[in-house]
Amino acid sequence: EGNKLWGGRFVGNTDPIMEKFNASIAYDQRMWEADVKGSKAYVKALQKAGLVTQNEMEQILTGLDKVFDEWSKGEFKIKPGDEDIHTANERRLKEFIGDPAGKLHTGRSRNDQVATDTRLWLRDAINTLKELALQLISTMVERAAVEIEILCPGYTHMQRAQPIRWSHWILRCILGEFYLNYILLEVSMDATGQRDFVAEFLFWASMCLTHLSKMAEDLILYSTKEFSFITLTDAYSTGSSLMPQKKNADSLELIRSKAGRVFGRCAGFLMTLKGLPSTYNKDLQEDKEAMFDTYDTVHAVLQVATGVISTLKVNQPAMEGALSPDMLATDLAYHLVRKGMPFREAHSCAGKAVYIAESKNIHLSQITVEDLQTVSPLFDKDVSSVWDYNRSVEQYSAPGGTARSSVTAQIEHFRTWLQAQ
Ligand code: ARG
Repeated sequence: EGNKLWGGRFVGNTDPIMEKFNASIAYDQRMWEADVKGSKAYVKALQKAGLVTQNEMEQILTGLDKVFDEWSKGEFKIKPGDEDIHTANERRLKEFIGDPAGKLHTGRSRNDQVATDTRLWLRDAINTLKELALQLISTMVERAAVEIEILCPGYTHMQRAQPIRWSHWILRCILGEFYLNYILLEVSMDATGQRDFVAEFLFWASMCLTHLSKMAEDLILYSTKEFSFITLTDAYSTGSSLMPQKKNADSLELIRSKAGRVFGRCAGFLMTLKGLPSTYNKDLQEDKEAMFDTYDTVHAVLQVATGVISTLKVNQPAMEGALSPDMLATDLAYHLVRKGMPFREAHSCAGKAVYIAESKNIHLSQITVEDLQTVSPLFDKDVSSVWDYNRSVEQYSAPGGTARSSVTAQIEHFRTWLQAQ
């Protein structure tokens, strides 16, 4: 019991089960670097405040450098009784420099340390994830630029809707402009007692992976034999131990699944926070596993997603072959709108035309002008211009549209944004 930081008022021993339950060293040792850095800054503040001498400060700084060295060489040995990273580092510092080590903790609590360390660790972690997210976005943007000519069906309710550019689909999947706010100055009671920044990180990760999960779902569908819009490279596929022909999109299925995992971390941690009294409570120790696991998950997902997107093969004939004239039924309605008919009425007329085509078992584009005129006398010969997928996508040239000019503008927007990062 002698080496406990808080052993003074205790006579009885801690139950070994409680000891294990209480300890966080198994996972919070990941913050060793932040913990040493935080202590180095803190001892300088102690010296300025006159609480340690110049000489003591130098001893502590040298000792902390040695602790840092051991960790970075992988030589730091965790001992029984090292309850958490703060305890472990201080124990080792004392072994290096003796008594002055005891002055480092003047005026601070591990509650302050853990709040500081977690913020410092997360700040670096977010920067790493940001780099990876930027790589993914840039891969998507460049792919969209190269494949701007390719058309494919756009779907709603999983039913064929209207023709779109494949690039438009890719850009739609981009996670958007994301950033996390870092507020380091707070009221002291809140500084140690709140973990909003962890909760926000978990929420951001959940949202980010929700987007990627949707994207993965589309791609899984597009990679089926039935669609054959895309083919994954072998590098991101796996096989079946039973059925020799199988090539499964496990990479995408795992990306899809991880959203659930991370969302669970976010919901679980919010449950932990809910109803806590203010300032530090040991419940907050739960932030670490949620944060580390989420970081590791997003770290892997972003890299696999970049790999999948940059290597998948697009089957342009299959995509464009999946377009069918019924997807131009909206354009057929617009044709009447241009002749002055209100859209509601035009929609109904185009619907009737779809019905005629279906009952005659022909394509919408194969209905004769005479047949169309039984639906509305406004139909005339130039209705033939409707049956052109390129013309169809080109009419959506407003910002965010699927026309070549709009998609090019979106690509340029993302390129400029990427450069500013
Ligand atoms: N390991 C603790 C945590 O992660 C550090 C703070 C412990 N403080 C305390 N009073 N028990 O939250």
